Formats: sequence, C-alpha cells, structure tokens
Amino acid sequence: MYGVAIVTGGTRGIGHDISKALIADGLKVAAFYAGNEEAAQKFRDETGQKAYKVDVSDFAAVEKAVAQVEADLGPVTVLVNNAGITRDGALHKMDPQNWHDVIETNLTSCFYLCRAVVGGMRERNFGRIINISSINGQKGQFGQTNYSAAKAGMLGFTKALALESAAKGITVNAICPGYIETDMTGQMRPEVLESIIRGIPMARMGQPDEIAAIVSFLASEKAAFITGATISANGGQYMV
Ligand code: CAA
Repeated sequence: MYGVAIVTGGTRGIGHDISKALIADGLKVAAFYAGNEEAAQKFRDETGQKAYKVDVSDFAAVEKAVAQVEADLGPVTVLVNNAGITRDGALHKMDPQNWHDVIETNLTSCFYLCRAVVGGMRERNFGRIINISSINGQKGQFGQTNYSAAKAGMLGFTKALALESAAKGITVNAICPGYIETDMTGQMRPEVLESIIRGIPMARMGQPDEIAAIVSFLASEKAAFITGATISANGGQYMV
C-alpha cells in the first residue's frame, strides 16, 4: 500500500500497534501524540517515522499539523482517529471539566481531523477514515457517561460521514475494541478490571495488535466496499 497515514495517539497503546501495522503495509505514518515525549522519541527511534506533538482538541493546531504532515510526507490518504482519554466517575460526582475534556479529546477531535483531511481526499477521490470507538460506546459503562457518550457519538459520526463520502471513494468505518491491555486499562482498579475480565467469554483481555490488524484491513484496497460499518473486537463480551 502507498500513501500517508495520520494516526492520532499513534505512539502508545493501541495507536502504537496501528502505526506499526500501517508502516508494515508500506505507508508513511505521521503519529500524533499529546505530550509523552519519551514514548514519542522511542517511536521515532523504533520506526524511523515522524511523530508530531498536537493537541487534537484544538482546531487551529490540527489544521497546522495536517499542513505540516502534507508538506513533510505528502497527501494524507489514511486517517485513524485513535486518540482517547478517560476521566471515569459516576455522573452524580463528575466534575463538568471531566465531561468536556473527554468529549473534546475523544469526539470533537474526530470532527477536527476529518475536517482538515477530507477536502484533499475528496479532490483525489480516495481516502480511508477509521475511527476507534469502544465497546462502552455500544453498551454503556458504569462510571463512563462522558466516555460512553463520546464513543457512541463516534458511531453516528462515522455513519453520517460515510454517507457524505461514499461517492468520492472515501470509506469511513468504526472499530469498537473491548478491554485491551494498554496503559488506559492498566489505570483501572485491579478488582474492577478483574470483575470485567470475568464477564468476557474468552476470559482474557485483547492485545493492541488484534485491533491494528482490523485497521490494516480497513485501510487496504480489499476493504473498498466496506463503509459506515462498526466492527466489534471484544472477546464476545458484547454482541450486536
Ligand atoms: N455496576 C453496578 N454498580 C457498581 C459498579 C458497576 N459496574 N461499579 C461500582 N458500583 C457500585 C458499587 O458497588 C458502589 O455501591 P455501594 O455504594 O452500594 O457500595 C457504588 O457503585 C460506588 O462504587 P465505587 O466505590 O467503586 O465508586 P467510585 O466512585 O470509587 O468508582 C469508578 C467509580 C471509578 C467509575 C469505578 O466504578 C470504575 O472504575 N468503573 C469501571 C470503569 C471502566 O470500566 N473504565 C474503563 C476504562 S478503560 C476504557 O475505557 C477502554 C475501553 O474503551 C474499554
């Protein structure tokens, strides 16, 4: 595969494995990261690819970064909206800032990134947009009204943009990972995580490369007829 992929949150966690899979597929990858310089430098050293520090919840910063990627690497053909944060807590105790931070970083960022790249994709009649949602956007989760709302929002966003983009050779799809072994799930209280794993029919968490493999397929020519789809990968924890 040729072209340039932007992967938000692309130096750590699921995003790290997505970046590596797309590099293995032959794409040039621009990994966006929020602030972890050590992980970003490790990614650069490991892959020889570029990592850009970008606040994805700031439209001006996103536009500037996308222009820089296009100047450095060429037109963006693949966009993976993977950046995400959690600020878990029951709604009756949730600080409004924790609501806004999660909505802006996880959902509004998808609008900003897509807004910045879709014009070029439309001109070139080709594009692949892949949004990393979550099982908790499909089923809801105790302590995650903010996160579940943002992740469910990504699913409606995906379908609407898929409709607008289908005639222009651009596919827009969503992936809903279940509980995957990353820093994010590593922050959970062990007893809470253990009780969740007991509810997974496969009795284990997923691995980041199991999500990256789906991204690699959706980004490929082989997936040209798939758009507006939501693909679950959750070990059987939730079936839709
Ligand atoms: N269902 C029903 N009741 C629950 C519950 C659940 N899942 N979790 C907690 N409760 C109940 C408790 O039993 C307790 O009841 P009592 O007061 O009657 O004893 C009450 O709610 C308060 O519980 P806590 O003391 O645990 O409340 P807390 O405020 O300390 O913690 C929380 C709340 C941090 C949200 C905690 O419940 C939690 O960590 N939940 C899991 C959130 C989660 O799954 N996050 C996923 C992060 S990873 C991710 O998001 C990636 C992805 O896409 C999957």
